[in-house]
Amino acid sequence: MEKIIGIVSGKGGVGKTTLTANLSLAMTQFGKDVVAVDVDLSTSNLGLQLGFYQFPLGLQDALDGNISILNAIYTHPSGLKVIPASISLNYITKNPTPYRLKSVLSDLNGIILIDSPPGLREDALLVLKACDDIVVVTNPEIPAVTDALKVIKVAREMGKEPLGIVVNRIRDKFELTTEEIEEMCDLNVIGRIPEDKDVKRSMFEKTPIVDLKPHSRAAVEFARLAAAIVGVEYSSPSMLGLRRLFSR
Ligand SMILES: Nc1ncnc2c1ncn2[C@@H]1O[C@H](COP(=O)(O)OP(=O)(O)OP(=O)(O)O)[C@@H](O)[C@H]1O
Ligand SMILES: [Mg+2]
Repeated sequence: MEKIIGIVSGKGGVGKTTLTANLSLAMTQFGKDVVAVDVDLSTSNLGLQLGFYQFPLGLQDALDGNISILNAIYTHPSGLKVIPASISLNYITKNPTPYRLKSVLSDLNGIILIDSPPGLREDALLVLKACDDIVVVTNPEIPAVTDALKVIKVAREMGKEPLGIVVNRIRDKFELTTEEIEEMCDLNVIGRIPEDKDVKRSMFEKTPIVDLKPHSRAAVEFARLAAAIVGVEYSSPSMLGLRRLFSR
């Protein structure tokens, strides 16, 4: 295993699953060996966002010790490798806490991106504990940033300095600026993803926007961030305006 990167947030619904899928795919396209893992066990939806509705084995089977995690890897048509979590209520009521996460993940190779549950309950804390690197996602609004700050503090108390903050769904001037967010959290913003209607479409099409609309504003920012995290050079495609015009 190269490293485990946790995609976490304080507030729910800020874009962790979207970021996990797109960063994982962009890193894969940069030639890295990557697997995206759904550890949001009680409200899992990474698999759903990618069109994996029914699959024989998921993360919970590996956590239960029934199988090797290597048997729960699926490949999306885009090339993205994913370990989904079952949405069955049986699993959710039986064992929603990933106690064995770290040891189960140790059987995987390459870079592991974890789609985390939001907040600071035990399941989310176990993700923080299992991670080598942490990326904190927020929207540019006070409630989301306040909750992000709590996660950052808890991570720091564990001795883990997060890689940085990703501000997702940036829209207009009626929201917090990058500087304000950095000041509130005492942490750098490493990614700024705009609100993009093609993200919704990509959910409908069950493929990350990095694959569906690689020249869209959000996809370019996802790719830029992925390149920065894995340390590869990235220059955005030329004539983006024209390309966008012709890819509607
Ligand atoms: N940049 C964006 N532009 C437009 N819509 C977005 C963007 N990012 C995410 N969304 C939408 O926001 C919603 C929530 O995103 P997502 O499921 O990734 O959040 P989450 O943090 O994983 O939520 P949860 O905490 O419930 O797991 C989805 O409908 C998604 O399509
Ligand atoms: Mg999610």
